Amino acid sequence: MNAIQPSAPSAVTGTFIRNAWYCALWAESLPADKPVGCTILNEPVVLFRRADGSAAAILDRCAHRFAPLSMGKIVGGDRLQCPYHGLEYDGSGACVRSPYGPTAPAGATLRSFPVQERHKILWVWMGERAADPALIPDFSILDDADPVSMTICDSILVRANYELIVDNLLDLSHTAFLHDGLLGSPEIAAGDIKLEQEGDRIIVSRFSRGAPMPGMFALTMPNAPALVDKWNWIRWMAPSTLLLRSGVCLTDSDPETGTGYYGIHILTPEDERNTRYFFTAVRFNMLTEGAENNQSINAEIARLRRFAFAEQDGPVIEAQQRLMDRAGGNLAPTLLPIDAGPVRYRRVLERLQAADRAG
Ligand code: FES
Ligand SMILES: [Fe+2]
Repeated sequence: MNAIQPSAPSAVTGTFIRNAWYCALWAESLPADKPVGCTILNEPVVLFRRADGSAAAILDRCAHRFAPLSMGKIVGGDRLQCPYHGLEYDGSGACVRSPYGPTAPAGATLRSFPVQERHKILWVWMGERAADPALIPDFSILDDADPVSMTICDSILVRANYELIVDNLLDLSHTAFLHDGLLGSPEIAAGDIKLEQEGDRIIVSRFSRGAPMPGMFALTMPNAPALVDKWNWIRWMAPSTLLLRSGVCLTDSDPETGTGYYGIHILTPEDERNTRYFFTAVRFNMLTEGAENNQSINAEIARLRRFAFAEQDGPVIEAQQRLMDRAGGNLAPTLLPIDAGPVRYRRVLERLQAADRAG
């Protein structure tokens, strides 16, 4: 266990890393014939597909009288028409047609954002520096995921800063209390936590021997025993995405004989106090049989995970945010050994935030 430094975490920093890729939407959520609006780092962004299927992202605020283009429609295959007075913009943000004259009005150019469709996700680059696709967080686990093993692509809004949600996800021990019976139980709260760092990536893991079978995992193991060995491994990738690998196996057996899932957790700050939380799961080493049976198990896993995030984590994190705000940032947290992951990630995050500002 690495020593905890009492410098962090305290409050949220309130600083966004702008030169980074953020998940705007699940790719399947952007149809061919309709624009979709979202908010990323306080910016209104509208995405739409061109006739060739490629996605474009431009500012969702018409240059004329600031109507949202996401309420407009796609015309001529490649242009987005403002719903208010009909100016038309292309995917570069240039106003290319006007109903009021032969030429588009001068200066009616909107900011456009680089977009990449990768890992079933539409990523948008929010910074001013050149967008580097190599910096897209690695969710290749989604690329070839067998639909039989995958839960739906879902999202919720959490009314809190994204940093508090990363804290929550890197703190594996909260499952013992907040998700008692579903993902953990108090008996395993004090298990050993392993902390690793690979470049700027932080990995937190723990192994619990002879743990009560969590309700979510009981679904995935035929004849589920009362006690199992359970493991969690989670990797944070800056600025705000996490990949979890969580599983159970028979006690004292090879973990590779067990079963579990990869949890995909992607956080997109809408602003300082609102975060769009995207999630899905891909099961590995499935021990349950039959496509129909597995489909209904996947649906139940999706329902329970949404319940865990929206009804268990969400309300506590939102209330935590309100209390911290009321204290005006004058809080020094008591630190526990379980805070090793959140402390380490905040150290890296603060360094990356400083580099982003300096750039
Ligand atoms: S507000 Fe868009 S054309 Fe007038
Ligand atoms: Fe949680």
